[in-house]
Order: sequence, then C-alpha cells, then structure tokens
Amino acid sequence: MASQFYMRQFTGSRIARLFSSSSTLPQNSNVKVCVVGAGAAGFYTAQQILKAPNTQVDIYESLPVPFGLVRYGVAPDHPEVKNCINTFTAVAKNPRCRYYGNVKLGSDVTFKQFRDAYHAIVLTYGADNERTLGVPGENLKYVLSARQFVNWYNGHPSRIITEDINFDADHCAIVGHGNVALDVARILLAPIDKLKTTDITEEALDALSRSRIKRVSLIGRRGPLQVAFTIKEFRELVKLEGVGSLLDANDFVGIDTSKMQRPRKRLTELMLQTLERNVSAASPAASKVWDLKFLRSPLEFLGDQSNKERVVSIRLAVNRLEDERAVPTGIEETLPTGLAIKSVGYSSSCPDNDIPFDARRGIIENDAGRVRGLPGVYCSGWVKTGPIGVIVSTMNGSFETGANLLDDLTNGVIDSVSPRGGSELIVHQILKSKGVRHVSFEQWEKIAAFETEMGSKKHKSADKVLSVDQMLKIAFS
Ligand SMILES: Cc1cc2nc3c(=O)[nH]c(=O)nc-3n(C[C@H](O)[C@H](O)[C@H](O)COP(=O)(O)OP(=O)(O)OC[C@H]3O[C@@H](n4cnc5c(N)ncnc54)[C@H](O)[C@@H]3O)c2cc1C
Ligand SMILES: NC(=O)c1ccc[n+]([C@@H]2O[C@H](COP(=O)([O-])OP(=O)(O)OC[C@H]3O[C@@H](n4cnc5c(N)ncnc54)[C@H](OP(=O)(O)O)[C@@H]3O)[C@@H](O)[C@H]2O)c1
Repeated sequence: MASQFYMRQFTGSRIARLFSSSSTLPQNSNVKVCVVGAGAAGFYTAQQILKAPNTQVDIYESLPVPFGLVRYGVAPDHPEVKNCINTFTAVAKNPRCRYYGNVKLGSDVTFKQFRDAYHAIVLTYGADNERTLGVPGENLKYVLSARQFVNWYNGHPSRIITEDINFDADHCAIVGHGNVALDVARILLAPIDKLKTTDITEEALDALSRSRIKRVSLIGRRGPLQVAFTIKEFRELVKLEGVGSLLDANDFVGIDTSKMQRPRKRLTELMLQTLERNVSAASPAASKVWDLKFLRSPLEFLGDQSNKERVVSIRLAVNRLEDERAVPTGIEETLPTGLAIKSVGYSSSCPDNDIPFDARRGIIENDAGRVRGLPGVYCSGWVKTGPIGVIVSTMNGSFETGANLLDDLTNGVIDSVSPRGGSELIVHQILKSKGVRHVSFEQWEKIAAFETEMGSKKHKSADKVLSVDQMLKIAFS
C-alpha cells in the first residue's frame, strides 16, 4: 500500500513519460540490464526498469538469500516493515527478471565482466561495513559495532559469536543517537516475550533471556535537538514494558518547542514528557532502564587493568554546540561500561577497483544515479546516497535511477543494439568455469519455506537458516 502511494507520489507524470520512452526503444531489442545487490534498492530499481517492455533484468546477489538489510537489518520486532518483500517477490517473478544468488561482484565476477555482458549495469550493493570512531581502544574485547550486533541477532552468515558479547555486564553504552542505536537498545531491553514469536535467532533469544544488562546509555555527541532518531522509534523505547527512563532535566533547560517545525517539535515534546515521567532504576516497576547522554564524544575505550583486552569504561569529551556542531569544551568524564556498541553508521566498500568509488564520502561517484564517466553504469540505494534513509527513501532514489537509465536508453546514451551475452556469458561461462553455483529465486523459496516450517514448530514467524553451507544444501536438495 505504502509502496503504491509513494510510487504515485514520485512518478506521476514521469511514469507516463517512461511508458512512452520505452515504446521508443528499438523495437526488436532485448535490452539486458544487470543489477548487483538484491536489497531494497536492487528490487525497486529492477521494478522501474521492467516497466519498459523490452528490458530483461538479471539480479546478482553475493549471499544465496535475497533482501539485504530488509532481512538482516530491520529489527525482528518490526515484521510489518518487511512487507516490502511481497513487492520484491513479485518483481523477481516477472518473466523478464531472474535472480542469481551466491554470486559476488569482485570475487566471482569482475565489474568489467558484468559491463561487457550487459547493455547497462546498476550497482546496488549497499553498505556492508561500518564507520569507525578512530579512537584508541576500539578493538578491545566487548567493543562492537551496531552492525555486528544487528547481524548477530538477525542471523547473518558472517555474524560474531555470542561469546563476543558481554551479557554479564550491568551496563551497556551505545554511541550514537540514530534509529539503529534505538533498535539495539530496544532489543537489549525488551521483555523476552516480545521477541519470542519473531524471526530473531534462537541463539539470540537464549542469550538475551539470560542477559544481566540492566542499564543502556545512549551517547550522542550533540544535543536533544540534533538527535537523528525519529518519533515512532523513540516512542517504542519509551513504551517498553518494565523498562524505565532516566533523562537529565539539565539537558533540556531553555528548550522551547513552540517555534519548532512539526517532526522535530513532536519528538522534542515526547522527550520532555518522558523527562517528566522519569522512572528511576530503583522503582520496582522498572527492572531495567535506559538514558540519553548528550554532548558527549568518545575519546577512548579503556580496558581492564588486569585484563587489558576487555572494555571497562569509556573516556568521553564533554562538548558544547557551535552552529549545531559539537565542539569539545576540554572537560572529560569517564563512563563505566562492560559492553560498548558503536552505532555511528554503516559504510560502503569498493569490491572492484574499476568502480569509481569516492572513499572519502563512501559512495560511488554519481549524478542522480548515473555513475560519473561511465555511460551505461548506474547506482542506487545506500551505495548511491551513503548509509542514510529508510526503505521508502531508498525506493524513491531507486525509481529515480531506474527512470534515468530508461531515459538514457531512449536517448541513445546506452548502446542497446549490439548483442550482449548477459547471463549466458556470466552464469554459463564465467561462473561455470570457476565452479560457482548460483541460487535461483525458486531455490531461495525452498530456503524460505524451510525457515517458515522450522519457525512454526517453535511458534516463530521463521527460524532462519544461519550458514551459507546450509542454505546451499537446502537450495540444491
Ligand atoms: C539496522 C538497520 C535497521 C533498519 N530498519 C529499518 C526500518 O525499520 N525501516 C526502514 O524503512 N528502514 C530501515 N533501515 C534502512 C533500510 O534498511 C535501507 O534504507 C535499505 O535497506 C537500503 O537498501 P540497499 O539496497 O541500498 O542496501 P542493502 O539492503 O544492504 O542491499 C545490498 C545487497 O547487496 C548485496 N551485496 C553486497 N556486496 C555485494 C557484492 N560484492 N556482490 C553482490 N552483492 C553484494 C548484499 O548482500 C545485500 O543483499 C534499516 C537499516 C539498518 C542498518
Ligand atoms: N525503524 C526505522 O525506521 C529505522 C531503523 C534503523 C535504521 N533506520 C534508518 O537507517 C539509516 C541509518 O541509521 P543509523 O542510526 O545507522 O544512522 P544515523 O541516523 O545517521 O545516526 C548516526 C548517529 O551516529 C552519530 N555519529 C556519527 N558519527 C559519529 C562520531 N564520529 N562520533 C559520535 N557520534 C557519531 C550521529 O551523530 P551526528 O548527528 O552528530 O552526526 C548520529 O547520532 C537512517 O536513515 C535511519 O533512519 C530506520
């Protein structure tokens, strides 16, 4: 529903133009397009390109299973967010679309090989890494990134092991005031019954049910008016059953919501209401508690004197705001913690040196999805914009890229006439010669059916298959 609404919002007259532009493509041409990455951006871009009747879209994905962060990022207690999978499935089932899972750009196929095999290529390989803080102690034991923690509870094949997370700590510190930080805090604090029926892994359920973490501090480098999280997600944290909040009135002195723009105003009002209802950790109603720390930047993660490998505290710089920027005051303080999670953003990498990747900005150099200097090469999603934006914004950006690709086809920017090998070349020659076996969409559906069946036995929506080996075993059985 939402998807249809936004599609209308974005496209409007552009859709009409697309249909007319597709009809001006060379009539007998079969335009072969490949999309690299089967996340939200991959599927939404494919959906747009397939609106032109002469196009064939092949989607390549490094994992056997599709859907990227919708499967491995979105929190398990947000199942409604994953409804977009229905749209992605409809795209994959379009007779002019094919899915090739278990194929990695950079190691199985090079960028050049993809370019040579297709009339156009769209890079949508997302952000599978994380930003670092660049401070000492980041590699201490029990200092994790949010990406590692999220991958762990969502069962990503490359996840860390449970023993790498200190559930015996009293206190967890999360650096960052974004929605991912709130997801992590909520999963750590939520009553276990709220998670039991979701697709969270059994391993995570077990560890979380034994967790001794009683307090989660969310540390932001700026103030209450600069938080990056949104009201819906903050409200969920506020409403967690049996979990209290500890906000500091000093952080809100002088804040006047009367002249604020609406989303920020509502969010700030909710923070102020939460402050008034502060529930102390000592209250019997709240066995666990969270707090927001403002104007604090990590300077160093400190290890145990006797065991330097293990984090015991964070040294923080106290900041002040200057034109909304955090500036250190020179004052420092130390926050004890047995588990530190850095939630300061994901980051994209460059799997092939021929891709014009801007390492500083962490994106592929592009103009509205057209990769600079390479006609016929496009990008969408987080590798186009950086690691920001919800699924709807990723969808709109992907529609933009898809529309620009179709415009370029119509205008002859892309050679759509000379024949290209497409999947015949990539799958049946290159991958075959390397012994790489791909997973089709039907085979992914076998994996999904297995997960649903295993889940139903445990009264869960799904019990995810956790290793690539097992995924392949089920797919090829
Ligand atoms: C923890 C977290 C929770 C989120 N929760 C929400 C939410 O609740 N609601 C919401 O609206 N948005 C949410 N988002 C944002 C949303 O997930 C993103 O906007 C969106 O998923 C980005 O899509 P993408 O296709 O660019 O990236 P991805 O979803 O990451 O897709 C990229 C795909 O490319 C594949 N890939 C990577 N490298 C290669 C390679 N070399 N070769 C082939 N394939 C490759 C990956 O395996 C992946 O499948 C969340 C984000 C995070 C990080
Ligand atoms: N339920 C949902 O809808 C949902 C759930 C999860 C994620 N998402 C979306 O996914 C996107 C990514 O989320 P995210 O939380 O990873 O990123 P984000 O929204 O960009 O938040 C990152 C946070 O890290 C802080 N930060 C960055 N660099 C830092 C540094 N060097 N030192 C200290 N703090 C630093 C930022 O502070 P500054 O503001 O000061 O830079 C910000 O508070 C967002 O668009 C988010 O809305 C949505």
